Amino acid sequence: MTNQEELARNPSSLQAYIDDLYSKYESLQDGVVANYIPELAKVDPELFAISIVNVNGEIYEVGDYQQLFTIQSISKVFAYGLALMDHGRDYILTRVGVEPTGDAFNAIVLDEQSKRPYNPMVNAGAIATTSLIKGSDATERLNRMLDMFQKYIGRDVFVDISVFTSERTTGHRNRAMAHLMLNFGMIDKPIDEALDLYFQQCAVMVNCHDLAVMAATLANKGVNPITNEQAIKSCYVKDILSVMYTCGMYNFAGEWAYKVGIPAKSGVSGGIIAVVPNKMGIAVFSPRLDARGNSVRGVKVCEELSQHLGLHLF
Ligand code: DON
Repeated sequence: MTNQEELARNPSSLQAYIDDLYSKYESLQDGVVANYIPELAKVDPELFAISIVNVNGEIYEVGDYQQLFTIQSISKVFAYGLALMDHGRDYILTRVGVEPTGDAFNAIVLDEQSKRPYNPMVNAGAIATTSLIKGSDATERLNRMLDMFQKYIGRDVFVDISVFTSERTTGHRNRAMAHLMLNFGMIDKPIDEALDLYFQQCAVMVNCHDLAVMAATLANKGVNPITNEQAIKSCYVKDILSVMYTCGMYNFAGEWAYKVGIPAKSGVSGGIIAVVPNKMGIAVFSPRLDARGNSVRGVKVCEELSQHLGLHLF
């Protein structure tokens, strides 16, 4: 019997399997916690959680899955969805490309020809994406962003003011990108409002369980499988999953696609989400990162899960 057949026969075997994975990697100490945003350096590096939510709303989780942390770059996936719903695919493509960079997430680089940022998963592309969120003023734009997260998560969400302020004060590199894009007409004034909204979306508090529900919503054609609420129009889910697949793990995206083979997105606070279309959402949280900014334990757990459950798309 294959692992997948065993799982269909006995769903509790998935819980036993992730319990084992958790024990296997609990003592792994490789990697370092992100410290370029001063407030992030204060996290307990030992935190570790694995959550899986399938499209029927069944939940399997282990470890610190209720521990809150800031969503960071994982927010880019969901902000991209909101921008697509606000403007449609054709317009968004004139402002943000869909090409992987092979560069670090914070590279100050635009497409030579079009002057667009390469894709919505790197910082430049995410800032451009967020600058497109509709609203009559900064408060309405923030509220629309929070409403969108609430639909995916199924509860009220809030922004961690300390992390937001920390990033707003120190995010000179992101400011430089915004100025570069303003110069090429890829974002509009006032850029400080766009940057604030970007820093706020990165500082939305989630736990590992929430991330798995969000990933499961994408796996379930945009419908939250716990609340049954539509969080994103189903026609845009493929846009999101395509850029996650090719660009979500930054300059590790190619190796990830080859080895793990499912759309994913990481963030510097140590979260990773992975989406198995029509099946399940996976989330791992562990703050120690590798040189490319991906959670060390998170990558290992996803590699093993993909192999064990036969999740690779090809
Ligand atoms: O813009 C930044 O640097 C952060 N707010 C988000 C970066 C991030 O999570 C990149 N992920 N690996």
